[in-house]
Parts: sequence; structure tokens; C-alpha cells
Amino acid sequence: MGKIDILKEVPIFGDLSESDLQSVVGKMESQSYKKGRIILKEHSVGEHCYFLIRGRVKITRMSSDGREVILALLGPGDFFGEMSLLSGESRSANVIALEKTKAMTLNTEDFLNTLELHPKVAIGLLRELAIRLQKSDEQIASLSLSDAERRIAITLLRIAEEQGTIHQGNVTIDPLPSQQDVANMAGTTRETVSRTYRLMEEDGYVKREGRKLVILYFKRFLSDFS
Ligand code: CMP
Repeated sequence: MGKIDILKEVPIFGDLSESDLQSVVGKMESQSYKKGRIILKEHSVGEHCYFLIRGRVKITRMSSDGREVILALLGPGDFFGEMSLLSGESRSANVIALEKTKAMTLNTEDFLNTLELHPKVAIGLLRELAIRLQKSDEQIASLSLSDAERRIAITLLRIAEEQGTIHQGNVTIDPLPSQQDVANMAGTTRETVSRTYRLMEEDGYVKREGRKLVILYFKRFLSDFS
């Protein structure tokens, strides 16, 4: 697939004409990362924005007691690294490759010029930032209000909304992030996640199949846990 076709897969560029895509692509560089590689480090200086083409990343921060907190999981078509370029502050979080990952990058000047030249790209970016803020608000509410099991359920709902596929009322998450990563998203321990999965399985809410997790009767799960 050519670079332009690859860029069309990134939603915020979806409305650009072929010639506009051509000029944006001309300014981009391709980067590849191995699983586990730290792509961005919290507090470092931001110099590029990244558009994910292949693979998945986690956005993390360290809590004051030294635990990894996962703020979000991103996949193909998502972008990251835009915040520090827009705010002029340092990187707000770490970005770590969860698997072999490929991204296209724009440097600060080209990123800001692209937003100025193409209002549709800017609006697409604002829309995504609004969605991220909404999710953060929901997470803050769930962290302060609920017990660990409910937080895990809410975390599963969030992953299902971002990555799940729905079939006959069931939602499949494939692959399910590791139990430690789910624990870090929900602000709890791996053991609690493992115990909660077992309880949810016994109660018929979920089914595990290897690296997959199927949420049975998603609507019921949604109404019982959110
Ligand atoms: P930046 O601050 O430049 O570097 C870290 C990146 O992580 C940040 O830009 C965003 O792209 C991304 N990021 C930070 N917080 C969140 C969040 N809550 N949801 C999704 N992405 C985030």
C-alpha cells in the first residue's frame, strides 16, 4: 500500500483530497518500534506528533507511589504526541509499544502548519481530544466512586468500546490487554483482576478463550456495571 493510502486510514486525514494528502505525506517520516519500546518519555521535550499505522501503544504515567497508571490504549488510526506541540509544555505521559508498531510522524512546524492549512484536520483533532477528555472525566468519576470490581468492569467497557467487535449482542476483545495492564488502568492489583474475571465468568458475564475475552450480552453488562 502507498503512503497516501496508509494515511487515508487515519480518520483525521480522511476528508483530505488526494493532492492535500500528497503534500502532508511529503512532510512525514515513517518510524517502526519493537514491542516494549518507550516511544515517548514523560517530561521530555515534544518535537513530533505520531499517527499510528500498525500496532498498539499504551499511554502511561507513574503514580506518586511508583505504580504504572495506564491512561489509554491506542491502536491503528489513532494519534499521540500532539499535546505538548499544542501546549508548549513537556510530554504529559509515556507512550510504550505493546506490540510491533509503525507510525508516521510530523515535526512541530509541519504539524501546526497542517492544522492551519486544513481546518477539517483541526476539527477532527478537536473532536478526538473532546472524546479523550470525556473518557478521562468518566475515569475520574469511576476511580473516586466505585470499588475495585466495578472499576475493572468499567475498564473492560472502555476497552470494549475502543477495540471490541460486536456479534449477536456479545462483544469480543481480542487480544485482551494483560491482567497487569488492566489492573493499572483500573487502579487495582493483578490479583484482583484475576479474581474478578473468575467471578464474572461464574456469573455468566464474560467468557475467556485464550487471549480473547467475550463480554456476553453486552447490554446487560453495560446496565449492571455502569
Ligand atoms: P504529549 O503530551 O505530547 O505526549 C504524551 C502523549 O500521550 C500526549 O501528547 C497525548 O497524545 C497522549 N495522551 C496523554 N494523555 C492521554 C489520554 N488521557 N488519552 C489518550 N492519550 C493521551
